[in-house]
Amino acid sequence: MKGIILAGGKGTRLAPLTEVTNKHLLPVGKEPMIWHSVKQLASSGITDILIVTSTNHMGDVVNSLGSGKRFACEFTYRVQEEAAGIADALSLGEQFAQGKKIVVLLGDNIFEYSIRQHVEAFAEQPEGARVLLKEVGDPERFAIAALDEKQIIKIEEKPTEPKTNYAVVGCYMYDSQVFNLIRKVQPSERGELEITAINELYLKQGQLQFSFVNGRWMDAGTFNSFNEANNLMLLNDNKILHDI
Ligand code: G1P
Repeated sequence: MKGIILAGGKGTRLAPLTEVTNKHLLPVGKEPMIWHSVKQLASSGITDILIVTSTNHMGDVVNSLGSGKRFACEFTYRVQEEAAGIADALSLGEQFAQGKKIVVLLGDNIFEYSIRQHVEAFAEQPEGARVLLKEVGDPERFAIAALDEKQIIKIEEKPTEPKTNYAVVGCYMYDSQVFNLIRKVQPSERGELEITAINELYLKQGQLQFSFVNGRWMDAGTFNSFNEANNLMLLNDNKILHDI
């Protein structure tokens, strides 16, 4: 399996902190935010990792992460020229994936526990995709999944009237179909290729599995959640916990 970390975007919700640097280089605890995603993948046995970031801060991202040696990983880099959405950024990973299964992390998502057990569950899955869910208090900010007893029945991106509190977090696992599915979707009203549209296509094919995130999770993209992520990582000395 291979890993892809998406670290583009403008980080406007964290301005002015993001005026001269990339959001994913801001500190959480004692390390740059993006190191957490690298360590999550490495802790799941994934060391071949593509980093996608924007043109303006690519140099700083490479300065921070280097070749991957420090993390016992191997990094490949690609530039997303415009902030055209998560699925658009992911499309840059097609050649890199070489038809293998991939685990995609949004570089601003912080997980208290290792995602390893979910990656292992996905490795056992014959085909399709797997998403991770977490109950949240502010569902309007996220993609929200409606569930029946066993499965996801619908996902809505940032719904104004959320049907549940189950956020689809920024960790997505896909088989090789994902790149063809990206070619099928159209930009949303906000002009982005939404990752939720891709997950919905897998859902329609009856190929979308899910698991629940263990422990705490945050998307560090706003000042409050960034502060929470910072506090958690300081408390845990930037270590990822195992075995809940
Ligand atoms: C993105 C996705 C959303 C997901 C969230 C998780 O939102 O669009 O589906 O729930 O990440 O962090 P954004 O942070 O770009 O608003």
